Amino acid sequence: MNGSVTSSVTVNGVPRTWTLPARTSLADALRDSLGLTGTRLGCEHGVCGACTVVIDGRPARSCLTLAAACDGGDVRTVEGLAGRTVDALRTAFSAEHGLQCGFCTSGMLVTGCDIVDRRRELAADGELSGEVVRGELAGNLCRCTGYVGIVRAVVRAAKDVDAQDVEAQQRGPIPEEGSP
Ligand code: FES
Ligand code: FES
Repeated sequence: MNGSVTSSVTVNGVPRTWTLPARTSLADALRDSLGLTGTRLGCEHGVCGACTVVIDGRPARSCLTLAAACDGGDVRTVEGLAGRTVDALRTAFSAEHGLQCGFCTSGMLVTGCDIVDRRRELAADGELSGEVVRGELAGNLCRCTGYVGIVRAVVRAAKDVDAQDVEAQQRGPIPEEGSP
């Protein structure tokens, strides 16, 4: 045995099979084997959150996760985020000055998408307070911004996405073609 392990993982919707030394972290596998360098490596000790990706639907530290442990799993990195939640977050991060050097931003966006998607769990009306967002983002560190813009951006994105839902509900179902 040469200490390597073969595992199959779906990354951003694409099935991948990799054979890597058993102790290779998911972060290293994503960055070095697949070139997905949007996943940042900061502390490599599970503290800063820069390496956050989504594993089987939940945000997780890719520096603390072994690539081999993801066998059969589904991984989404910042490169694979798509849809209205991340669109709203990108717009809000820009409008609220939620980044400076950008090192933490991948992890912030991955965690931010999870927060926005859970907004109705976190607040009955989907309007997140800054305090709630600060608590949810506690595992993502930023050395530059002082967090104010980041928190405002997540609050704003949640509000925007929720407003889209309310508007869609008020409009009701789209009438079928040919109906009066
Ligand atoms: S690099 Fe993974 S938590 Fe810091
Ligand atoms: S923007 Fe530089 S670490 Fe967050």
